[in-house]
Amino acid sequence: MEAGRKVRIGVIGIGARAQGLIETLSGMDFVEIGAICDRIPERMQEGLAVIRKTRDYPVALYEDYHELLKMPDIEGVIIATSWNEHISIAIASMKAGKYTAFEVGGASSIAQCWKLVETYEETGTPCMMLENCCYGRYELAVLNMIRQGLFGEIVHCDGGYRHDLSAIPRGLLKNHQRSFHHMKRNAELYPTHEIGPIAKYLNINRGNRFLTLTSMASKSRGLTLRAEELLKDQDVDWHPFALGDIVTTLIKCAGGETVAITHDTSLPRPYSRANQVQGTNGIWSEEHMGIHIKGRSPEEKWESIDEYLKEYEHPIWKEFLNDGVTGGHGGMDYLVLRAFIYCIQNRIETPINVYDAATWMAVTCLSEDSIAMGSMPVAFPDFTNGKWVCPDPMPKGPFSLDD
Ligand SMILES: NC(=O)c1ccc[n+]([C@@H]2O[C@H](COP(=O)([O-])OP(=O)(O)OC[C@H]3O[C@@H](n4cnc5c(N)ncnc54)[C@H](O)[C@@H]3O)[C@@H](O)[C@H]2O)c1
Repeated sequence: MEAGRKVRIGVIGIGARAQGLIETLSGMDFVEIGAICDRIPERMQEGLAVIRKTRDYPVALYEDYHELLKMPDIEGVIIATSWNEHISIAIASMKAGKYTAFEVGGASSIAQCWKLVETYEETGTPCMMLENCCYGRYELAVLNMIRQGLFGEIVHCDGGYRHDLSAIPRGLLKNHQRSFHHMKRNAELYPTHEIGPIAKYLNINRGNRFLTLTSMASKSRGLTLRAEELLKDQDVDWHPFALGDIVTTLIKCAGGETVAITHDTSLPRPYSRANQVQGTNGIWSEEHMGIHIKGRSPEEKWESIDEYLKEYEHPIWKEFLNDGVTGGHGGMDYLVLRAFIYCIQNRIETPINVYDAATWMAVTCLSEDSIAMGSMPVAFPDFTNGKWVCPDPMPKGPFSLDD
């Protein structure tokens, strides 16, 4: 696709994730990273070193993000701090009139999700969650299949964040916020990699919505056992981990569909997002990398999704394969960033908007409440205040997830 006009952006929170994002952004010659910010000066130097590998434009460095937000020539801001910081910085960024994007992670309170939405409604400044998995090749192909009716009417979706992060206690030594969430909270801590694509499959906030949620946590063993190994003889305060090894969350939708997601990061296992979609005509299963369609697939057999890609590759990925796949996580990091930059260049709404972000992040604190109350169902807030019934049309465009 055409490069489009040059855009200057700022990046706040220069940990490992942001350094990867900066590397990907540095490959876009229509983007200049005019400023970076981190409370830790060494992190800024690391971020600058990544930029300097390929680019020599001026870059301002700030320890206080408010200073970065005052720069008039910065049009967009990317926030990759810790989970509890994303929303408050995004609010300040929207108030400063900057196109705002922030990294994934769950919310700690429903009140902060409402503040995010209300700030967007007051300022009119677009705000996007950088949920890269919405741009994964298989997630997008399955979205295309759903839109074209391959599975019939959708009845149920599954997903998960199934990733062995059992080294997470070591993060306590480096004051890594994520490790404290795992030690102190019992919740579906990281829902957006799977709930994002599923919400798009089910038109959540656009004709459908999440109604109620219930979560159940297994016993907690994995992380505490690993902490005993990893933190032995280390000078760090820790106590047994609160997070259940497997947290299962069920969501009921207004359209009648059910969703089941699993947080599974404490026990040995290979990585999977365990995406599955079942409709009246067939099923897709990531665990089998397979599809079964009534009247098309052999009886009782899976067919490889690769066979279906010939017919159902999403247009975003057709073009990406044609241009040359680039960027981290198999290319989806490039696509989500390119989508954000495209929206800034064309001054349009982002394909993942503030209502999506609030809804997906809310899963974390709702699941925490449900688990604390013995898996009681909890009501899902309607962050659209009823607009989900007759939603405004989303802007069409090359990165749209709603066409
Ligand atoms: N989408 C993905 O695939 C993916 C992958 C990895 C991480 N992430 C997300 O990226 C985010 C960052 O992850 P990370 O591993 O780099 O974390 P990190 O803790 O290593 O880095 C965060 C950085 O933000 C800085 N920071 C925090 N609050 C700040 C503030 N108020 N002002 C300035 N700087 C501040 C910290 O000093 C730190 O350097 C997390 O939300 C994580 O969930 C997403």
